[in-house]
Amino acid sequence: MIRRRRLRASEGIRALVRETNIQVSDLIYPMFIVEGENIKEEISSMPGIYHYSIDRMDEELDRIREAGIRAVLLFGIPKHKDECGSEAYNEHGVVQSAIRHMKSVNKDLVVIADICLCEYTSHGHCGLVKDGEIINDETLELLAKTAVTCAKAGADMVAPSDMMDGHVSAIREALDEAGYINTPIMAYSAKMASGYYGPFRDAAHSAPGFGDRKTYQMDFHNGREAMRDIQDDIDEGADILIIKPALTLLDVLKNASLHTNMPLCVYNVSGEYAMVKAAAANGWLDEKRIVMENMTAFKRAGAHMIITYHALDVARWIREER
Ligand code: PBG
Ligand code: ZN
Repeated sequence: MIRRRRLRASEGIRALVRETNIQVSDLIYPMFIVEGENIKEEISSMPGIYHYSIDRMDEELDRIREAGIRAVLLFGIPKHKDECGSEAYNEHGVVQSAIRHMKSVNKDLVVIADICLCEYTSHGHCGLVKDGEIINDETLELLAKTAVTCAKAGADMVAPSDMMDGHVSAIREALDEAGYINTPIMAYSAKMASGYYGPFRDAAHSAPGFGDRKTYQMDFHNGREAMRDIQDDIDEGADILIIKPALTLLDVLKNASLHTNMPLCVYNVSGEYAMVKAAAANGWLDEKRIVMENMTAFKRAGAHMIITYHALDVARWIREER
């Protein structure tokens, strides 16, 4: 008889044949930085995640360092929003200042700047709006400017999340021209228009004021089309690909892992986090088990790195296992 159970008999044997392991170095921790002073405010739909002003960030930076987390993804929330998101590409904007501060506190921390306009525009769209439409090519220039200001502030990587066509090549060109030839682009390549971003939009005050994001984010019915977007970003010079949401795009992640040889990052998004936290708070799920099972599924499907709001907890749980 074939006895699979031989290799399941003890924790020691199971550990030997284990195919997938999560390491702290796989984790990227997202942070929300708000303009202002003395702000530390919990985001109600994302328990355990806070808005920080720059002068209050250090306590979180200490936790990140103690947890052994090496990379963060930054989102900025400005006081002033306008039609063309001018604070996004202000050299002294909230994100640019946060990057400078973080690199001065811990120069080894990999600081990744999310590049988009939606946190900065009064209408909440990821691009410029003209006659009720989100216009592509004019937006590219602003995204490129944003990326250059972040690189200049010391960002180690830029992560365009806008889903405009041609964004990677526009940003690559601008970075190269400004001398940042070695700043990698971590491109959101397969990003679906998803209900799972709800809590993030509360956090970033970035819900679109009219319409939705379906004319630029992908239709979640289409897995084959996702592979074309991925190929476009590879051709345009992306260094790392992001796929999101994580739980509902495991098929796309697996395909990308089989059909490309790119480094792959999965984004375990705000709604996925909120679901787990809500169920755990009610005692309906064992939070640690569920989170580690999710993280393992991402890696098993081919992710090399994971952006997750659970990062501090995951790091602690990995440490406790040892
Ligand atoms: C901004 C951006 C979003 C997310 C990452 N970058 C929101 C959106 O596209 O509406 C979602 C992250 C999350 O839900 O955790 N373009
Ligand atoms: Zn956006």
